[in-house]
Amino acid sequence: MSTDQQPSRIQSEVRRRRTFAIISHPDAGKTTLTEKLLLFSGAIQIAGSVKARKASRHATSDWMEIEKQRGISVASSVMQMEYRDCVINLLDTPGHQDFSEDTYRVLTAVDAALMVIDAANGVEPQTRRLLQVCRARNTPILTFVNKMDREVQEPLALMDEIERELGMTVVPFTWPVGMGKHFHGVMDLRQERMRVFSPGEDRVAGTEEVLEGLNNPAYAERFGMEYGNAQGEIELVNEAAPPFDLEAFLSGSQTPMFFGSAVNNFGVQEVLDALVELAPPPAERAAMQRVVQPEEPKFTGVVFKIQANMDPAHRDRIAFLRVASGHFSRGMRLKVVRSGKELRPNTVVSFLSQRRELLDEAFAGDIIGIPNHGVLQLGDTITEGEALQYTGLPFFAPEMFRSVEVADPLKTKQLREGLRQLGEEGAIQVFRPEAGSVLLLGAVGQLQFEVVAHRLEHEYGVKARVTSARYNVARWVTCDEADGGEKELRRFIDHNAHRVAWDAVNAPTVLLEYAGELRAMQENWPKIKFHALREHA
Ligand code: G4P
Repeated sequence: MSTDQQPSRIQSEVRRRRTFAIISHPDAGKTTLTEKLLLFSGAIQIAGSVKARKASRHATSDWMEIEKQRGISVASSVMQMEYRDCVINLLDTPGHQDFSEDTYRVLTAVDAALMVIDAANGVEPQTRRLLQVCRARNTPILTFVNKMDREVQEPLALMDEIERELGMTVVPFTWPVGMGKHFHGVMDLRQERMRVFSPGEDRVAGTEEVLEGLNNPAYAERFGMEYGNAQGEIELVNEAAPPFDLEAFLSGSQTPMFFGSAVNNFGVQEVLDALVELAPPPAERAAMQRVVQPEEPKFTGVVFKIQANMDPAHRDRIAFLRVASGHFSRGMRLKVVRSGKELRPNTVVSFLSQRRELLDEAFAGDIIGIPNHGVLQLGDTITEGEALQYTGLPFFAPEMFRSVEVADPLKTKQLREGLRQLGEEGAIQVFRPEAGSVLLLGAVGQLQFEVVAHRLEHEYGVKARVTSARYNVARWVTCDEADGGEKELRRFIDHNAHRVAWDAVNAPTVLLEYAGELRAMQENWPKIKFHALREHA
């Protein structure tokens, strides 16, 4: 039981945790880098298995059919590995912008992020959006500039672009010598040595050629003009870039930058080492009642993601929980604070490399999966009994809407049940209009509607008619006590009944056609607050 745990054991376990997400625009090389990180940590032996997993998931899961058809990654996954003395929890995020809502929530469960940039394309839209979320939370970010084995942008230009676009100071830890056909390797600016590039996927840690010193006289002869150029650039960088400042990195205003080529296993080890050395262990976490320290003896955790039917053979729903404090052990008695229900999970799973395994224990920073049948919802706090509610799980105002009805009226109940479950999972937002009976779906991206229609049919046996709705803007509405509170809010809802709807947790929402309407409404109703983001409470 957790209370029997020596505080010092909890403390040392927490200190060796590193929990991070890997983020990028699609195609930058996130899957490849993930695989190489697993390979270099020894969690997998054979390159190609993460991609193979991607493929086998496609083959075994019905709704992943969509993913296969589009060639995108819809669902996030979790992997755990040990490297040096650390336990690393790596959270993959869906790269497609239609699934950014899910991605945003994954980012609330990590202590750092690794950003992968395609050196040819620079900063792309999806990277920009994800970075905004990281910046809002002051998440420390490491940057990996990938695909140096191709003809790409000049490194100085890339550095400048990242600084300008993402509003962070970039501190290069390595610097490339050449690119494309003339990519010779990287200078390790801290260790003052050069790692020589040789293409190929077969190399593992420790087998690449390393030359000591940044100004070795043999370099010019061996690496030609690329070496001369790199030397000039490094001089410029040394003059212009500030020294690395751990505090600035931890507060998200400075990012260490690494160059490499994931597909060639090159530059990966440096990033893995930097993660272990620089990324922070789990920090304290704010709940509505108090701030919780990760090494507190009692277990607490928060559900940041729910996924149904990950394994079609089981047809289960897995709640992904970030352990926020204490020690989890199999079979311990837990409480869902929202409902007061007891939870005694015996089949909690962890995610060791890619296998789902039964879990015996976990500490702050770890991600555990609890199979359940609707007992757990997004944003739920789980404790050993304390009434705590963690804050900060964001829901974003949808930007697209559809009406949803069943072709067969006898299936209305199944539709509602299906939508309730999909809504709880965060796959879609479901709204019940104040006036009228047709349910509305809200999403951040078009693809969410397709996934939901597909899943309704295949998992709940409901053929749904999803048709366009005239709304384009949604805002959650509240009213402070000082401005009239509930009474004023009710007056607003009654006046606007035709455009008010209730979301999955019965929060009132106003739905509008144009952004201009919103401005007019804000002027007419000064006491009402309009929110584009709702935090789970
Ligand atoms: P993602 O998860 O971010 O979407 O990217 P993913 O790893 O799937 O990589 C996208 C493409 O970029 C893949 O090629 C991958 O092989 C390639 N790639 C990744 N890292 C590097 C690199 O360092 N250099 C080069 N030249 N290419 C890289 P693909 O053709 O789409 O797939 P595949 O047939 O190679 O698997």
